[in-house]
Amino acid sequence: MINFYNIGKQNQKFEKKFIEQFKKVNKEGRYILGKNSEIFERNFAKLTGSKYCIAVGNCLDAMRLTFEAYKKLNLIKDGDEVIVPANTYIATILSISQANLKPVLIDPDPLTYNISLNQVTKAYNKKTKAILTVDLYGHPSDLINLKKFAKKRKILLLEDAAQAHGAKVGKKNIGSISDATFFSFFPGKILGAFGDAGAVTTSNLKLKNILVSLRNYGEEFYFKSTDRKYKNKYIGFNSRLDELQAIALNLKLKLFNQEQNKRNYIAKYYLENIKNQKIVLPFVKKDTLHAWHLFIIRCKKRNQLKKFLFKNRIKTMIHYPIPPHRQKAYKKFNNLKLPLTDKLSKEVLSLPISTSLKKSELKYIVSKINKF
Ligand SMILES: Cc1ncc(COP(=O)(O)O)c(C=O)c1O
Repeated sequence: MINFYNIGKQNQKFEKKFIEQFKKVNKEGRYILGKNSEIFERNFAKLTGSKYCIAVGNCLDAMRLTFEAYKKLNLIKDGDEVIVPANTYIATILSISQANLKPVLIDPDPLTYNISLNQVTKAYNKKTKAILTVDLYGHPSDLINLKKFAKKRKILLLEDAAQAHGAKVGKKNIGSISDATFFSFFPGKILGAFGDAGAVTTSNLKLKNILVSLRNYGEEFYFKSTDRKYKNKYIGFNSRLDELQAIALNLKLKLFNQEQNKRNYIAKYYLENIKNQKIVLPFVKKDTLHAWHLFIIRCKKRNQLKKFLFKNRIKTMIHYPIPPHRQKAYKKFNNLKLPLTDKLSKEVLSLPISTSLKKSELKYIVSKINKF
């Protein structure tokens, strides 16, 4: 069987060093937001070309806490509208709801399946205070134009890059363009920890300082526990990076470029060799570097294709079969008219893109898809 994910196998090469460093942490006895976390924040800021990286518990918290931080900066208030693509994982929308803001869901661009500037323009009104765009599948959003749009109207451009570590627009890294960018280090992500983890990148020092406090119960910042004053400025959260996740992430960052080259190779192979009229291949915008978290194809007979591949021992996935506005959790959105989002949920199929895929497996997958 060709699996969709092979995370355990991919992680094996980090085991030995991870255990060595785990022993060091155990000896020193500091498990949360210690030296390794600090090193990771510096490393990840460097990778994304951003000034600051604030590590938190997961990407949902990264987004949620940032909305709360912008409230402290008086740039957004309860009830304000946030424009967001409907074609995304539900966490993007949840972060807006959890922050007492109003998600305004829009259909995607028909070519990239990402946010559409056209739709953003239609949805914008005086209550709009932010756009939360998503670099879905690893393909960067139309960031340059979105930024111009947001700047002109003095609203925030926020970016869910949970799937887009290492992507670029022109020479600019994802993480250095929007007012704040959010990353997930969930184990299955491009850069995955050995548990939950996430981060915000930004060049805004005030935002960074509030986030550093919010993630730790709203306490004033301290590094050494002897400096702790138990002074709470905000009604905060508990959303921190632990040292074991930081170790895993720092180890994996060392091989990040190598792993991304493999993903690029697989994506290029699919793009050049899948030749089947029934299948629509992903579009890559000029001047962007796709991170290839997922390789998504479209097919009108998607369910049949999935079954056919499974019969041929190839596991695939669907990202995502039920869009957020069709979920029971969002009953209030069930009647929204988002035809392209609905259509995509019935036609998309994710092919294996694990970096442990062998060339022979890749060839085999392509040959079967071409026979469908
Ligand atoms: C686009 C997107 N946003 C947000 C998230 C949430 O990330 P986390 O699990 O780190 O909260 C995910 C994770 O699946 C995602 O794919």
